[in-house]
Amino acid sequence: MNLSGKVALITGASQGIGAACAAAFGRRGASLSLVARSEEKLRAVGGPEALITPGDLCDAEVRRRVVEATLERFGAIDVLVNNAGVGLYSDVSAAPMAEVTRMWELNVMVPLELIQLVAPAMIERRSGAVVNVGSIAGKVTLPWISLYSASKYALGSLTDGLRLELRDKGVHAIAICPGYVRTNFRENALAGRLPASLERSSKFQISAEECAEAIANAVERGKRTVVIPRVGWIMIGLARMFPWLVDWQLARMYRRVKLEE
Ligand SMILES: NC(=O)c1ccc[n+]([C@@H]2O[C@H](COP(=O)([O-])OP(=O)(O)OC[C@H]3O[C@@H](n4cnc5c(N)ncnc54)[C@H](OP(=O)(O)O)[C@@H]3O)[C@@H](O)[C@H]2O)c1
Repeated sequence: MNLSGKVALITGASQGIGAACAAAFGRRGASLSLVARSEEKLRAVGGPEALITPGDLCDAEVRRRVVEATLERFGAIDVLVNNAGVGLYSDVSAAPMAEVTRMWELNVMVPLELIQLVAPAMIERRSGAVVNVGSIAGKVTLPWISLYSASKYALGSLTDGLRLELRDKGVHAIAICPGYVRTNFRENALAGRLPASLERSSKFQISAEECAEAIANAVERGKRTVVIPRVGWIMIGLARMFPWLVDWQLARMYRRVKLEE
């Protein structure tokens, strides 16, 4: 899809990957509809041209409002970028359930509800793309962030199902699986922190801008699944072919993390 003249609704666009996506899509000539809670940051990201909808996406009224306002202003939604998401560093056996529920809502239910709001019009026009920002943690379970991994597995699976379902209807679904991206994601986690030793050993870090460029390219080229940086495919491949080996390595890392606490 050529993004010039298209309309992109981007969630979680006030900072990090979402804000960089707004810039990348804007450079390609797309009209922008941006949503997140921080109105001031959204205005700074979007400039005078963008449609800004401040609000909490876990609120059904905000989801309805952003879709309606976008259709009213631009007449269509060509690309939905489900980017808003949050992490939670906690053990499965002891995670705080209120935070788990909130994470699950934002990472899984919100994208699903937005898809249901925008897909019918895309299907009618036989054109559109849904981009779901998952994670490498949605391809290989990382034990220090297992429940976040579970939410991204769910989002990835939902993306694959949607792609197959809409294959003959002119609508495409893309899964984006970033590794470590330099944003405030870790500071914004709902509980816990990324252990310091893992932070230090994250060798393959990328910027939000690199991630956003990969996302815009994926839409333009109609890609299916994007792992960024690409070296992440090695870990995914190893986990598929030699699960015991990856389990062994991740268990070692997890033990080290626990010793740090
Ligand atoms: N950074 C990484 O290393 C990494 C790696 C893999 C995947 N990802 C995924 O990439 C996506 C973006 O993450 P990021 O790194 O850019 O994180 P970030 O810097 O923390 O940005 C998260 C964005 O989501 C918005 N948001 C959070 N809760 C919201 C809510 N309830 N309603 C509306 N908007 C909300 C935030 O804006 P407000 O606070 O203004 O609402 C912000 O714009 C997430 O889905 C994350 O899981 C990140």
